[in-house]
Amino acid sequence: MPSPRPAVEFLRAADAMGPIAAYRARMRGHLAPAAGETVLDVGCGLGTHAAAIAAERAATGVPGPVVGLDRQAMIDQAGDHPGVEWLAGSAEALPRDDDSVDAVLAERVLMYVDDVPAAVAEMARVLRPGGRVALFELDYAAMVLGGDAKIADEVLAVVCGTVSCDRMGRSLGLLLTSVGLRVVEQVPVALPIPPPVWAAAVRAPVDDAVADGRLDPERTAQWLAELEAPGAYPGSVTGVLVCGV
Ligand SMILES: C[S@@+](CC[C@H](N)C(=O)[O-])C[C@H]1O[C@@H](n2cnc3c(N)ncnc32)[C@H](O)[C@@H]1O
Repeated sequence: MPSPRPAVEFLRAADAMGPIAAYRARMRGHLAPAAGETVLDVGCGLGTHAAAIAAERAATGVPGPVVGLDRQAMIDQAGDHPGVEWLAGSAEALPRDDDSVDAVLAERVLMYVDDVPAAVAEMARVLRPGGRVALFELDYAAMVLGGDAKIADEVLAVVCGTVSCDRMGRSLGLLLTSVGLRVVEQVPVALPIPPPVWAAAVRAPVDDAVADGRLDPERTAQWLAELEAPGAYPGSVTGVLVCGV
């Protein structure tokens, strides 16, 4: 099994980004659990989002279970977060009863999942009638890279190959509708790609592609140098926030 270390570094960098904090606040606003209601964070990663929800519930006097589900290897990396119950498992086979959860969220998870329709069906199965769901996924295919257009397109193809679905954000609304949920909000969000995220999400797969011959070493090096020129476009990616009931 590959080491979870790069994913952990990626997640820590992402957590520090202001625009991410902003859409997460919007997700929490939609989920708005009442006292005693159960929130399930599918693919919770290090559990920072689940921990923020648990802290907000404690501070505002609406306590209730906040469950963070992820692979055991990731949970082992997460550390201690007061108020978060950990659940090891798979998004495609959630270890929860039908109608047992009041609010479900998943952020940047479905883009990595092998069987997305199964995972979304599972969310709908565990969600009680009238429950709320908030999803956020990136569209890697909507990544904007600067520098020479031809090599930027080649790099983009390599980067898109690192996820199961490179158009996940724009697919969310129809997926929710397909499992009987109603979309109440659908918002695109443009995010900059800061250096630590760039290193994990772009630079590392590009280096791999140069090493195994998918990208030309000289042209790629020239393209990377172009990106360091004063005023060059630093790169961005669009994600989509979808809230449903
Ligand atoms: C980019 S991280 C996002 C983590 C967290 N949601 C956040 O926003 O910080 C993707 C997470 O999805 C988890 N994941 C991917 N596929 C999964 C699956 N099939 N079942 C459960 N978790 C999965 C990974 O282990 C990882 O923690």
